[in-house]
Order: sequence, then C-alpha cells, then structure tokens
Amino acid sequence: MTNVMEQFKLDGRVVIVTGGAMGLGKAMAQALAQAGANIVIADINLPIAQKTAHHISEAEQVTAYAIEVDVTEPQAVENMAHSVVKEFGKIDILVNNAGMTINEKAEDMSYESWKKVMDLNLNGIFLVAQTVGRVMIKQGFGSIINTSSMSGLIANKPQEQCSYNASKAGVIMLTKSLAMEWSKYGLKVNTIAPGYMKTELTRPFFDEGGEMIDDWMGFTPMGRPGAPHELGGIVVYLASDASSYAQGSVFTIDGGYTAL
Ligand SMILES: NC(=O)c1ccc[n+]([C@@H]2O[C@H](COP(=O)([O-])OP(=O)(O)OC[C@H]3O[C@@H](n4cnc5c(N)ncnc54)[C@H](O)[C@@H]3O)[C@@H](O)[C@H]2O)c1
Repeated sequence: MTNVMEQFKLDGRVVIVTGGAMGLGKAMAQALAQAGANIVIADINLPIAQKTAHHISEAEQVTAYAIEVDVTEPQAVENMAHSVVKEFGKIDILVNNAGMTINEKAEDMSYESWKKVMDLNLNGIFLVAQTVGRVMIKQGFGSIINTSSMSGLIANKPQEQCSYNASKAGVIMLTKSLAMEWSKYGLKVNTIAPGYMKTELTRPFFDEGGEMIDDWMGFTPMGRPGAPHELGGIVVYLASDASSYAQGSVFTIDGGYTAL
C-alpha cells in the first residue's frame, strides 16, 4: 500500500493559481510550493504577482513565475494556458481562485454591479476551468480546485451581498457538474468553501470592527477569522494523490460557521 505521506508530495507537478498574487491564492500557492510543486501565479496585478512568485521561488526552491491575466477575457485565459503548456509541457493542478465582492442591497444594486461580480466570480471560474480543463482532458489527468465560499451555502448576515452569494452557489454547482462530466477523463474537480478569512478582501472590515464583525465572529463557533495559511492543508490534499477518491465535493473551512 502507498505510504500516505508520500501521496501528499507534489514534486514536479505544475500548478496555476488564479488570483494568486495575494490573499488566499497566495497562501495556497505557498502551501503547494512547500509540497514541491512549481507555481504559476496568474493575476491581473502583474507587479504584485511577480513579487509573490519571486518570494515563493526563493523560499521554497521551486520554479515560480507570474503571468498577467484577466480571467474574464477568453483570449488572455487561452494565452495563459498555452504559455504554461509551452513552458512545462503540462498542467497538473488548477487553483481557480480569483474573485471579488460588492456589498449592496439587492433593491439598490445596479445591473452593471451584479454583472461585474458574476463575470469574475462565476463566468471567470467557468472560462478558466474550461480552458485548462481542455488541456487536462487531453493529458488524461488533472485536479481542479475552485474557490467558492460558505456564502454559496448560506446567506451572510448582516451585510447584503446577493450577487456574491449567488455567484458562489454557482461555483459549487459548476464544480459538481464538471466533476460529473470530467471524471471519465481522469480529472478531479472539487471546491473549497472558506468562511471569514482575514485577507486584503476582508481586512478593511476587520480593521473597522463594529457590529458587523461582532456578528461574523458571534456566528463563528471558533470565534475568530481564519488565517490564509489555514487553507494550506486542504489545498495540498485536493491537489495531491491523497485525494484520489474526492470528486465534486465542497470542502467547507469556516471555523464552524455553517455548522450552526
Ligand atoms: N477572504 C475571505 O474571507 C474569503 C472567504 C470565502 C471565499 N473567498 C474567496 O477566495 C478568493 C480569494 O479571495 P481573497 O480574500 O484572497 O481576495 P483578495 O482580494 O485578497 O485577492 C484576490 C486576487 O484576485 C486578483 N484578481 C482580481 N480580479 C482578477 C481578474 N479579473 N483576473 C485575475 N486576477 C484577478 C487580485 O489582483 C488579487 O490578487 C475569492 O474567490 C473570494 O471570493 C474569500
């Protein structure tokens, strides 16, 4: 029987992390590099992506570099996949992670604002999964890890963010649908659904404090936000052979929020 710790090793594997310049994407990229993978940080913010890639390659002694990409642009996504295959000859793992939120009341939200969130959080996730998925289908292997959110499972309180919640619920069902369609090609497709994590996206809210943060933490049995590195274990598991029977699943990492 294969040694379980051996199964977690990612030496020589090639990973694309979208939205990997900062926040959860950066932390997941760091964890995957620590397990031995080579990393492509694919982000709209090239200078920060380059800094992150440089830091990872220095710290973890793997190949890491940055590619500028807007994940909502089909040609840019195609170019990203093409250049990674040209460089490494394969793509083993996709961490499909870029996302954003806009907090607005449903009755006040402009249609443009709704579409902006859906375009990045759902259309972008589909576009990258489809483009990289085509490469993986040809290879006959690959692990796709979509970042959804606990907001795809529950409606957050008190902030009003229906576009975000709907987009993340879409990512969860997209994950299940792709798992159903692509299992036969040897691909794994799963999603990580984080709770409140302290990143660039949420730091302004935590810094401001007040009623909203009291509510967030009051409904989190562990009583604290997650740190980005606390997604390291689950992403390495899903990227690696250790998760060989995980398929179409939602991995909720939320300090217990959705347990209530
Ligand atoms: N922070 C949380 O509490 C939390 C909780 C649950 C889920 N999430 C999800 O995790 C993911 C990462 O969130 P985060 O908190 O690290 O966010 P963040 O804002 O810290 O980082 C997002 C990254 O995505 C990049 N990006 C934005 N638009 C892009 C585009 N069009 N193309 C390519 N890259 C783009 C940004 O440059 C940035 O590097 C998102 O999908 C988010 O919805 C976050």
